[in-house]
Amino acid sequence: MNRQTPLIIAALIALLCLNACSAPHDTLSSLPRLSLTPELDKIYQSTCKNCHASNAMGAPRTGDLKAWQVVFNKPFELIIERVINGYQGMPPLGQCFDCDQTQLETLVHYMSRPAEPPQPAN
Ligand code: HEC
Repeated sequence: MNRQTPLIIAALIALLCLNACSAPHDTLSSLPRLSLTPELDKIYQSTCKNCHASNAMGAPRTGDLKAWQVVFNKPFELIIERVINGYQGMPPLGQCFDCDQTQLETLVHYMSRPAEPPQPAN
């Protein structure tokens, strides 16, 4: 063990972390693409879509993998907590006041990995 050994170990840990610590990215891109049930699609059309169909309001656009990867760098629990309680421009419950947590989670899954091809950026 020479003087540089701790530095080398730290560098190795950092390198490992580059893989392991970016796990949320992998989780998102490996998430199966999802279609909504007619019931949830109705909810999506009348609530989330008003703000998430474009980047205009600063909301991550549905199907914009890059934008959603940034969101998914956070723990899923924190993302859902922000959906439920609101966060900056994001209103509490995304304005779906009848939605339960499972429905909101499914909507978030759909918005980040929709079955249909992503809409063009705007
Ligand atoms: C009135 C506009 C509006 C509506 C309606 C809306 N959102 Fe949002 N949402 C936003 C904005 C703006 C942000 C970006 C907030 C920020 O990061 O500053 C956001 C962010 C989010 C995020 C990312 C939160 C994070 O942790 O970064 C999720 C998830 C989300 N919305 C889900 C939903 C869902 C699900 C619905 C429908 C039930 C919905 N939103 C409806 C405006 C809206």
